[in-house]
Amino acid sequence: MEFEIISSDISTLTTECLVVGVEETSILTASAQLLDKACEGAIQAVLNDGDITGKAGQCLVLRNLPNISAKRVLLLGLGTQKKRTDTVHKSIIKALFGQIKSNNITDVAIALDDKVNKDNDIYRQLRLSVQNACAGFYQYDETKSTKATPPVLQNIRFVVASDQVENAEDGLLDGTAVANGMSIARELGNLPGNICTPTYLSKEALDLADGYDNIECEILDEAAMHELGMHCLLSVGTGSAEPSQLIVIKYSGGKTDEQPHVLVGKGVTFDTGGISLKPGAAMDEMKFDMCGAASVMGTMHAIAEMELPMNVIGVIAAAENMPSDKATKPGDVVTTMSGKTVEILNTDAEGRLVLCDALTYVERFNPKTVIDIATLTGAVIVALGHTASAVMSNSDALANELIEAGEYAADRTWRLPLWDEYQELLDSNFADIANIGGPAAGSITAACFLARFTEKYDWAHLDIAGIAWSKGKEKGASGRAVPILCQYLMNTAADLQAQR
Ligand code: BES
Ligand code: MN
Ligand code: ZN
Repeated sequence: MEFEIISSDISTLTTECLVVGVEETSILTASAQLLDKACEGAIQAVLNDGDITGKAGQCLVLRNLPNISAKRVLLLGLGTQKKRTDTVHKSIIKALFGQIKSNNITDVAIALDDKVNKDNDIYRQLRLSVQNACAGFYQYDETKSTKATPPVLQNIRFVVASDQVENAEDGLLDGTAVANGMSIARELGNLPGNICTPTYLSKEALDLADGYDNIECEILDEAAMHELGMHCLLSVGTGSAEPSQLIVIKYSGGKTDEQPHVLVGKGVTFDTGGISLKPGAAMDEMKFDMCGAASVMGTMHAIAEMELPMNVIGVIAAAENMPSDKATKPGDVVTTMSGKTVEILNTDAEGRLVLCDALTYVERFNPKTVIDIATLTGAVIVALGHTASAVMSNSDALANELIEAGEYAADRTWRLPLWDEYQELLDSNFADIANIGGPAAGSITAACFLARFTEKYDWAHLDIAGIAWSKGKEKGASGRAVPILCQYLMNTAADLQAQR
């Protein structure tokens, strides 16, 4: 599928389908008015007859309009400006491409002026439009014997005012990179646990490094991690036949002496709970327990595609959590890379165990900031549902930057506190710290555990357990956390540029 930005007279534009907007109630947007003039009121007549009112997502296909070169004109309902939130925008784009799919249209020109969103930032409109369009065309078929039919739609052109072309093109390029990153994250998330193992994630990272001169990848195997004293990370995989891996992906887009920004992803490729075995219902969904890792991988792809002028290191802590005679048992005590000991009271609280050693490991990079991304707790779903991720941080500035980035990229996060009062819930009689804190404030105590290993740098934790995948009929990975991470890095890169 090809995207393009154009600026031309829409009445003489040759296309299978020209899309113009109708706002509520029955108000033609500027482009629609232009078109209406060219066809001598044929569009207004349709509105007058009440065939379309402009409700968000309404579609009406018109053919044979006089004096118009386009084969079809699609009137798209945009609702009212005030109510055009990112969610509404998403539903409008979804409805549009649903209609285009069902009409078997091969090329489309979209002239929605700057009306597809609440604000009229054309760059952002393009970003989100491309992101939402690509998301709609993603199809999983890797493990199906009948392969998905590729979309009939080949060309998508966005028509913008001539003074907006540059902004729109930037939005298109960045939007495509983010969308590609999301597709990569979704594909990794959707692959079953018997394919997407820690070793599989390593191969994906090595392939990524092969594709770019400024990306290097290093894999630490179990022996190397043992040498470093990462016994806490290793304790998660001891019950599994799949070897654990620490995957380090270095993207060097900035100056050599510039401090890197580090992303650390939870890559539990299947979480049975271990000896603290999970109940059977919906356990298949625990193949998604590597979605933090997948969003790191997707983000590394996207920033390489965008050639962001900064240094970023992506780290993936990959393991499979299984019960067996070799598995870690409740009550076992392990020593972390930091030297702190951990009493593993529940082997199902394994995410923090793989992350803590990875977070200690990244100290060696002298990071500017560290963000970990993890499907860490069921409790975050109780707190925030499937709408926002949770951010917890030892830096107010970093937390605020992430909230702002999430807002801009339509991938929201919301802050939960990490006050000292919560720390004592992790007290243990047999080790320096316990790996669970009881039933209260589950997402916060999980982050409190991580906070013990991140005192040396500015750090934020994103709990994405509620947003990384959808359940039910639409079951599948969302690709989320890629947009917010990309946006955070893009904003940071822009700040760096300004300082240079
Ligand atoms: N991967 C799960 C978290 C999870 C659960 C994500 C359900 C999405 C849906 C994590 O490893 C886990 O099992 N966490 C436990 C922690 C508890 C034992 C303290 C949980 O949330 O129940
Ligand atoms: Mn678990
Ligand atoms: Zn888990």
